[in-house]
Amino acid sequence: MYSNSMSLLYHMLAVVAFFQILLISGNWILAKNINFYNVRLPVDPTPYPSSFKCFTCDNVVDNYNCNRWAEDKWCPQNTQYCLTVHHFTSHGRSTSVTKKCATREECHFVGCRHHKETSYMECISCCEGMICNVDIPTNQTNAVFAVVHAWRTSGSGRQVMSTLLLVLVTAIFML
Ligand SMILES: *[C@@H]1O[C@H](CO)[C@@H](O)[C@H](O)[C@H]1NC(C)=O
Repeated sequence: MYSNSMSLLYHMLAVVAFFQILLISGNWILAKNINFYNVRLPVDPTPYPSSFKCFTCDNVVDNYNCNRWAEDKWCPQNTQYCLTVHHFTSHGRSTSVTKKCATREECHFVGCRHHKETSYMECISCCEGMICNVDIPTNQTNAVFAVVHAWRTSGSGRQVMSTLLLVLVTAIFML
């Protein structure tokens, strides 16, 4: 009786472990899918694994003209993020937009500051992902360091998998 229930326990643990693995790999696939649908797939071959592009412009008058004429070029391998620097007047009129690929260190300066001597506002934002720097930061809410969380974005998929797991384990119990 004792050894019987022990072996049943081990059996159940093995089943749970098996579905945990399924769950994790499922998650990975879902995260891949989400990234796939989020990006506009480039036609030119990627220069290195996990390579990405940023809108790139230097001191252009506003966001429209930056994006319109920006090169979306492959970022160097030592960078991980897209950075945007936005200068604007107290009335919110853009005076300068700069976008580029950036390292984690450069992204430490996100946020908004008031330059007293020139009296313009400067907001800096960073983001992660293919051509993610479409918008420009205008206040503390969007002048942030936005990093992609694959686990969070695939949350709904994980929920489905968890429910499936629960149903399967319950079914095994009832047999
Ligand atoms: C920040 O700017 C965005 C876009 O311009 C706007 O929708 C949002 O309401 C602003 N937030 C604050 C706190 O001003």
